[in-house]
Amino acid sequence: MLDLKEISYQPQTGEKKIIDKLNLKVYENEIILICGDSGSGKTTLLEIISGLTNPQKGKITWKNKTLSSRKRRWFCGVVFQFPERYFIGTTIGKELKIGHKSLREKNIEIVLNKVGLQKLNLTQPPEQLSGGQQRRLAVAVQLLRNPSILLLDEPTAGLDWSMRNDVKNLILDLKNKNTIIIVTHEPALFEGMPSRMLVLEKGKIKNF
Ligand SMILES: Nc1ncnc2c1ncn2[C@@H]1O[C@H](COP(=O)(O)OP(=O)(O)OP(=O)(O)O)[C@@H](O)[C@H]1O
Ligand SMILES: [Mg+2]
Repeated sequence: MLDLKEISYQPQTGEKKIIDKLNLKVYENEIILICGDSGSGKTTLLEIISGLTNPQKGKITWKNKTLSSRKRRWFCGVVFQFPERYFIGTTIGKELKIGHKSLREKNIEIVLNKVGLQKLNLTQPPEQLSGGQQRRLAVAVQLLRNPSILLLDEPTAGLDWSMRNDVKNLILDLKNKNTIIIVTHEPALFEGMPSRMLVLEKGKIKNF
């Protein structure tokens, strides 16, 4: 279980706390949906969980062991909003290999299978993929790092209806095998998915 205890965070340049004594427990292989108004701190919360931002107060543990921000960076795979804007590989194959000194072809194959991108021509540029496929590729890049928790910030943002369903089906495929935290503006899309819906409001988590 990932346990966030009394987490508070105020950016140096900010006037007030974005996250204020927040508590959250996430169980293994659970899917958590986090909603909340624009500016409520959802992305900030993902940054804190993934160790990119260090809260001033509170403790984050996994299976009762404290996780430093450095450990959390290894521990989490984050797909930020519009990940396709940040692809730097000139081909899909190169994009998948970024950050890996050596990567077995077999591992790439396994991960592409997991995200439903098998039988792809890896020598084509990522931009040639559809919107939904690009999101799948961004998830694949993170899965190759074998993260304990997958964090997705607005994974369906800017996609048309069929592509949004594509992303939803990807998450359904990953469920039961991964712990996933999803920030979303459209919780209705995930209706029927075995998941726990939470709302971030005034720096705290509220049950829906
Ligand atoms: N480095 C910073 N310095 C000052 N204020 C910040 C900083 N980072 C974020 N904020 C403020 O913190 C609040 C939360 O931002 P955040 O991006 O986490 O919200 P969000 O819930 O993800 O919003 P959205 O739904 O629009 O993506 C906003 O009011 C934002 O302006
Ligand atoms: Mg955000």
